[in-house]
Amino acid sequence: MSGIVEKALAFAKECHGGDNSGHDFMHIQRVLANAERILAETPEADAEAVRLAAVLHDVDDYKISAKGGRAEYFLQAAGVETVLAGKVLNIIGAISFSKSGSHPHFEMIEQAVVSDADKLDAMGAIGVCRTVMYSAATQRPLFLAAEFPAENLTADEYKNKARAGNHAINHFFDKLLKLKGAMQTKAGQREAEKRHQFMVLFLQEFFDEIQASSWRAYLDDFLKRN
Ligand code: ADP
Ligand code: NI
Repeated sequence: MSGIVEKALAFAKECHGGDNSGHDFMHIQRVLANAERILAETPEADAEAVRLAAVLHDVDDYKISAKGGRAEYFLQAAGVETVLAGKVLNIIGAISFSKSGSHPHFEMIEQAVVSDADKLDAMGAIGVCRTVMYSAATQRPLFLAAEFPAENLTADEYKNKARAGNHAINHFFDKLLKLKGAMQTKAGQREAEKRHQFMVLFLQEFFDEIQASSWRAYLDDFLKRN
């Protein structure tokens, strides 16, 4: 790993240090590891730009930073050359779900790699854990049987709903079960398929255990439609 990526990791560790809402530094380490796996099958991508963007992609997320500008500050302070710094900021700006939606169109392969790497970390067993952590950290209930998901949210509605109260299980329908369709690389799609199946299994078991049969039917129908 290059010296500048090491420095970025140290910077991100400070930025994410105090978080316990699913945006802790381990999220960054996992996204970097996911990016490496995708890079191994995507030799045409600029690996340095991908790594820096993976490491810095959440330092300005509104959930952990009120003021923003930290990625840009780091790149300047670390003396990263202008073209590479611009590329890294471009990737970070392009990838968020609230901006790019469930069917992103990226102009650069590097955006696709980092987007897939980040989205994979919201799926599977890790995705289940992060959703529970986030919900606990924001005082949301685990499950409200009377509150079915509001479907077809616009990006703005999604953001407002995400900030206001909602139960953890709805987040699977609002976002997590749609991530498979947002994958842009071959390696990302393959891994997403596996993690998607695990989330489906988790939800089936969850609804079966509490005998929430209308939710079980809703899930089956949702999967047919999405
Ligand atoms: P990422 O950093 O992976 O792009 P987000 O910033 O959207 O993802 O959210 C981080 C994690 O917090 C997600 O993996 C998800 O599990 C959880 N999360 C985000 N929004 C909600 C929500 N409204 N309800 C429950 N969990 C959420
Ligand atoms: Ni992230």
